[in-house]
Formats: sequence, C-alpha cells, structure tokens
Amino acid sequence: MKKRVLSAMRPTGPLHLGHMAGALSNFVKLQNDENYECFYSIADWHALMSNYADSANTGEYCYTALLDWLAVGIDPEKSPVFIQSHVPQHAELALALGMITPLGWLYRNPTYKEQIENIKNKDLGTYAFLGYPVLMAADILLYRASLVPVGEDQSAHLELSRETVRRFNNFFGEDLLVEPQPLFTQTPKVPGTDGRKMSKSYGNALEISESADSMWQKLRTMMTDPARMRRSDPGDPEKCPVWDLHKVFNPDDSEKKEICEGCKSAGIGCIDCKKKLNAHIQDMMTPVRERRAKYEGKKSLLDEILADGAERAGKVARQTMSTIYPAMGLLVNPKRLWLRNICDRI
Ligand code: TRP
Ligand code: SF4
Repeated sequence: MKKRVLSAMRPTGPLHLGHMAGALSNFVKLQNDENYECFYSIADWHALMSNYADSANTGEYCYTALLDWLAVGIDPEKSPVFIQSHVPQHAELALALGMITPLGWLYRNPTYKEQIENIKNKDLGTYAFLGYPVLMAADILLYRASLVPVGEDQSAHLELSRETVRRFNNFFGEDLLVEPQPLFTQTPKVPGTDGRKMSKSYGNALEISESADSMWQKLRTMMTDPARMRRSDPGDPEKCPVWDLHKVFNPDDSEKKEICEGCKSAGIGCIDCKKKLNAHIQDMMTPVRERRAKYEGKKSLLDEILADGAERAGKVARQTMSTIYPAMGLLVNPKRLWLRNICDRI
C-alpha cells in the first residue's frame, strides 16, 4: 500500500530557485519514490483569500505554476496535478468542516495573527481569510492523505487539520477522516541578489523561467561580502550570499574548498567565483529549460493535463464526499448521480 501524499501551492506568480531548492525538489523526490502516491494541487481559492482585491491574474498564474512544476520534473502521469477550484468538493468539504471548527482555533492560529499584524497593504479581515486553515484541511482530508510535505511555516495549519479530523470524527463517525502527518521539508537558505531571503516580493529572485543570460546578469551584480571592496581585499565567505548559493547549488566539494580558501586569501575574484556558481546553476537549469520548452505556449496541452488531473483527483474527492454527506445526516440528492452510485455501494 502506497502512502498518499497531498501538497499544494498558491498560484501567486513565477516560482524561483528558492522554491526549486525547497518545496519543488521535494515534490519531485516524493513523486519518484515507489512508496508514495502524490497529488499536487494549485490552490487558487487560497490565492484569492489574500489577493481577492487584485485577482485578475489568478487564472494566468495557474498556468505559470503548472509550467514551473512541469519544468522542474513533476510528472502529471505519476502525480495528478490539478487546480483546486476544478474539484468542487474542496469547497464543499471546507463548508462541512466549518460546521465544527471553533472560532477560537482560527483566531488563535499564529499564522493568522502574524499576517493580520504584518500585512497592512490589504484588508485581510475577511471570513475566508480567517478560514484559510479550514480550506487547507479540506484539501488534505478530501484525499485521505497520510502525509503532507510542507515548510515549518505551515505546521500550525497542519496541526489544525489534525484537530479538525479528531473533532469531526467524534461528531460524525470514527475513521471518517484520516489524520495527516506533516512531512517537514528541509528548506536550505537561498538568498536573493540583495542578500535577503529570495522572495518575489523583495524583487531579488532568480526565477525558474528566466533565461541563462538574465540569470547571469543578476548573479554578476549580486551582493557579496560587503567588506571585500577591492579585488585585493580578502573576503569572508560566511558573510557572502554568493557563498550561500554555492552551498546549495554547487555539488563540487573540492571546487568549493578552493573558492573558500581563495576568497579568504584574495586568490580568487568575486566575478570568477560567480562564474563558477553560474556554471553549476546553468547545468542544473538545462534539463529544466528543455522540459519547459515542451509545454510552453501549448495551452491545450496544459489544459489536458489539468483536466486529467482534476478527473483523477475528483474520483477520490467524490468517494470521500459520498461518505461525508450521509454521515452528517444530510439527505443525498438523488439526481446527483455520483453521490448516489457510490452511496448505494457502501
Ligand atoms: N497554505 C499553503 C502555503 O501557503 C498552501 C496550501 C494550500 C497547502 N492547501 C494546502 C499546502 C494543502 C499543503 C496542503 O504554502
Ligand atoms: Fe563572495 Fe565569492 Fe566574492 Fe568571496 S569570492 S566574497 S564568496 S563572491
């Protein structure tokens, strides 16, 4: 029996090398491991929860996310890839879970408190935003996923999903929903060109979809150890974000040793150091760009992938919902055939 894995990302724009070294490489690793069956969702409803006032790009960003995913090696044959809103049972189960979710859990959620405090350029005081973890729980529970790869930042949300399962099963029936376990992804430190954490909102990112040329222009002018003003000044790699990128993207240990020593003795210049880094990044990106080229601009191919993903995900989602409706005491709509057919068999 394979373990079911569910993860999702919000479509908020082009993904970058930080995503690739963290979440995405882990998605690919899990997908290629015989022990797992992975479902990957593009959480467009979740994107709307914070971007509802500026939502026109959400659909386009779903294609952006899909292309980035395919480029890094997510294989839609192995792992259904689908848009959250294309499987309407996500919204249905979120509503159902909302029946039993205490408001206190949501108000106490540290991620909610932190975001309400810190994000001042949009009004996040909405019903949907408060309920973000309820929809996220629905995403996971719909597939009876046992494992959820997420970053540490999502651990409060995962815990809320687990508590929701316990409370829901208590009300409506043992083993109705499955408690998911978090699979915390190691996210290496990936700084952007200004030395801060790589992030679209800082404008310091190297995007997965970027050309080799454009990446090199960014690396060439990237911040280094600020104490190393002249070529003849020795540097300290531990104070240099370029070195952090070597640690993540340069697999050649003996070259890294040379760079480290060369930096400290002023034996190597920053441009040479960056050229070596660039060579490794471009090596890594070559197959990524090749895969991307197979899909880029082919909307109908992308739509087929998404339709197939939604169909495969929908099968599981409908199966789960067919147990939820009667367990909650709802009368099953006799015209809603998928619900009837499955219910009759149970
Ligand atoms: N909340 C996650 C994030 O912001 C995205 C997400 C939505 C998710 N639904 C999910 C992650 C289900 C894991 C499982 O990163
Ligand atoms: Fe940074 Fe490399 Fe320059 Fe040293 S040589 S300061 S590690 S860019």
